[in-house]
Amino acid sequence: MSHLFAPITLRDVTIRNRVWVAPMCQYSAVDGVPNDWHLVHLGSFARGGAGLVITEATAVVPEGRISPEDAGIWNDEQQAAWSRIVAFLHGQGAAAGIQLAHAGRKASAYSGFTGRRGGVDDADGGWRPVAPSAVAFPGLREDPEPLDTAGIDRVVAGFGDAAERARRRGLRRPGDPRGARLPAARVPLAAVQPPRRRVRRRVRQPGEAAAGGGAGGPRARQRRAAPRPAVRDRLGRRRLGRRRHRAPGRAAA
Ligand SMILES: Cc1cc2nc3c(=O)[nH]c(=O)nc-3n(C[C@H](O)[C@H](O)[C@H](O)COP(=O)(O)O)c2cc1C
Repeated sequence: MSHLFAPITLRDVTIRNRVWVAPMCQYSAVDGVPNDWHLVHLGSFARGGAGLVITEATAVVPEGRISPEDAGIWNDEQQAAWSRIVAFLHGQGAAAGIQLAHAGRKASAYSGFTGRRGGVDDADGGWRPVAPSAVAFPGLREDPEPLDTAGIDRVVAGFGDAAERARRRGLRRPGDPRGARLPAARVPLAAVQPPRRRVRRRVRQPGEAAAGGGAGGPRARQRRAAPRPAVRDRLGRRRLGRRRHRAPGRAAA
């Protein structure tokens, strides 16, 4: 039998199923701050029943962004914005993961949404990328700054700080308290869709009385008054179950 909908525990994190959303760059942040777009984008996967939702590649330092519109987690404003999103994901019963990233010499590039290609110049909001050497990535910025040991240490520290900010916001790689990049595990999104409920309704003929008196009738009133048990569907989401309706005069089981 498939384990797709079975919970899985990795160290101290239990994930409700194995439907996990891989990181997807949205190129929609302003100054690295995620916004309503990210809330809706990531939130909809959690609402749809995914077990783990992983953020897009999230830069640990400003110069590590792929494009000027990349999300980041190097300052308090970004941390607070992620906090709101993570609260929603958790509220929907999903675990939240983060992909911490540094683009190196591929930084300061135009995002696909701009319709332009290549490196973004300083005058257009770009910056000089940092890299292990001065060798440019073909087609992107031609002036990467080769890092010395101290520069590499700054990048390493950036990952450490970002992981700590993410950990405080509940964003992490399950099984890794440092919150590092999660190896991608993907499932077609179709699997995230909740099963549709079939609508069964018979059209009444003109003049025909509804069985039980219709929506305002005694049977409907009795149905509405009955308590609805809280149940979980096979994706692990909380749902209100069917009202248990006892026919008049029938004893409770
Ligand atoms: C719109 C979009 C954005 C993506 N952004 C990222 C990203 O931020 N980080 C990453 O590692 N992969 C990124 N990917 C790659 C996906 O995470 C995934 O690896 C890729 O879509 C292949 O998935 P598949 O193996 O299910 O076909 C992106 C893919 C898409 C379609």
